[in-house]
Amino acid sequence: MLATLWIILLSSTFGKCLDNGLAKTPPMGWLSWERFRCNTDCVNDPDNCISEQLFQTMTDIVVADGYASVGYEYINIDDCWLEKHRSHDGKLVADRKRFPNGIKALSDYIHSRGLKFGIYEDYGNYTCAGYPGIIGYEEKDALQFADWNVDYVKLDGCYALPYDMDHGYSTFGRLLNSTGKSMVYSCSWPVYQIYAGIQPNYSAIQTHCNLWRNYDDIQDSWASVENIIDYYGNNQDVIAPNAGPGHWNDPDMLIIGNFGLSYEQAKTQFAIWSILAAPLLMSVDLRTIRPQFKHILQNRKIIAVDQDPLGIQGRRIYKHKGIEIWSRPIGPLYQNFYSYAIAFVNRRTDGTPSDISVTLKELGLINFSGYRVEDLYENVDYGVLYPNTKIKVKVNPSGVVMLKGEVQYPVDL
Ligand code: GLA
Repeated sequence: MLATLWIILLSSTFGKCLDNGLAKTPPMGWLSWERFRCNTDCVNDPDNCISEQLFQTMTDIVVADGYASVGYEYINIDDCWLEKHRSHDGKLVADRKRFPNGIKALSDYIHSRGLKFGIYEDYGNYTCAGYPGIIGYEEKDALQFADWNVDYVKLDGCYALPYDMDHGYSTFGRLLNSTGKSMVYSCSWPVYQIYAGIQPNYSAIQTHCNLWRNYDDIQDSWASVENIIDYYGNNQDVIAPNAGPGHWNDPDMLIIGNFGLSYEQAKTQFAIWSILAAPLLMSVDLRTIRPQFKHILQNRKIIAVDQDPLGIQGRRIYKHKGIEIWSRPIGPLYQNFYSYAIAFVNRRTDGTPSDISVTLKELGLINFSGYRVEDLYENVDYGVLYPNTKIKVKVNPSGVVMLKGEVQYPVDL
C-alpha cells in the first residue's frame, strides 16, 4: 500500500503543471532580436553588437527614460550570446569577449536597477543561429539559469523534432519549476508544430508555458505586422480562448520606433497588440528612438488595456473592404456587462481617412446605463453614450482609432 501511495505521490508531482504564479498579466520589457539580431561583430560595430554593454545600456535607458515606470520590466537577451561550445564539464558559457564579466554579473546589474533578466535558449541541438541547444543538458541548464538568477526563459525550437516538443517543452518547464527559482517560460512549441503540420495541443501548452509563439517572426515592415494581424484574426477561434492570466499568445515583438513602420502603423501595432493581450516586448534602439514612437510605447491607457487583469484576449469582430474592428472585453464589470477596448483599423491605401459609423449596440455594448467613452490616443472624452448612440470615427490609412467604453452603473444604485 505504501508503494502505491508513493507512486500516486510521484505521479502527482510529475504531472504538476507550471503554475509558477508569474505573468498574471502579459510580460513587458525589451528584447534584442528584431532590432539587433545576431550582430557579433564588436570589433567593427561595438555599440550594436550582442554584448553585455548593449544590455546594460538598454537597462539604464528603460529606467531613466520612463519605460520602467509605465511597466516595462524585463531586459531579455535573445540568440547569439553563447560560446559555440559548452565548457569541458558541459556548462553553457557566454561569449567570453562580448560578455567578459559573465551572465551572473549582467543579471546582477539588471536586478540592481530594479529590473528583471531574461535569457534565450533552444530546445534542440542548436539555437536557430547555431549555438549550443539544451537537448541532453536540460537539468543542468535549468539549474544554471536559476543560479544566474534568470527571471524569464525564451526556449526556441530550431534543430528539434516538432513531434518531441509535447514532451520536451513540458519537461523543461517542470525542470525550471523544480529549481525553486520562478522563471517566466516562453515557448516556441506551437509555431514549430504548426509549420510541421501538427495541430498544437493548446491545453497542454497553456498548462506548461506562460507564453508561446503561434506564428512567424516579425520583421521590420508593415507587411509583416499586417500578416501577423491577419493570422491572429483568421485563427482567433482556435487561438484566443487559450489566453488568460499566466498564459498568453505571443504575436512577437513590438517593432515600434524602428525603420519599417510609419507613425500611424506604429499606433496600429500597439493598439492591436493590446487587444490581443500580447506580451509587450520592445525591440528597438532606445538610444535613438524618436519621441513620437516613445510616446506610443509609453501610452499608459493602452498599456492598461493590454494589462487588464481579466486577461481576456480580444477578437476581430468586423472585417469588410479594408476596415476592421477589433474588440476586447476588459474591466470594470457591471453585473455581466464588460467594459470594452475597441480598435478601428483602416487597412485601405486610398490615401484619405475613412469614416466608420457604428452604434454601440452593434459593437456589443448593450448595457442600458451606458458607457463612458474615451479615445485612448487623442485623450478625447465623449462622455456617457448609450447602446443606440451612433459614433463616428475617422481612421487614417494604415492607422487606428482606439476607444475605451467603460460600463456605467444605473444611477439609483
Ligand atoms: C527564431 C525565433 C526568433 C529569434 C531567432 C533567433 O527565429 O523565432 O524570435 O529568437 O530564432 O535566432
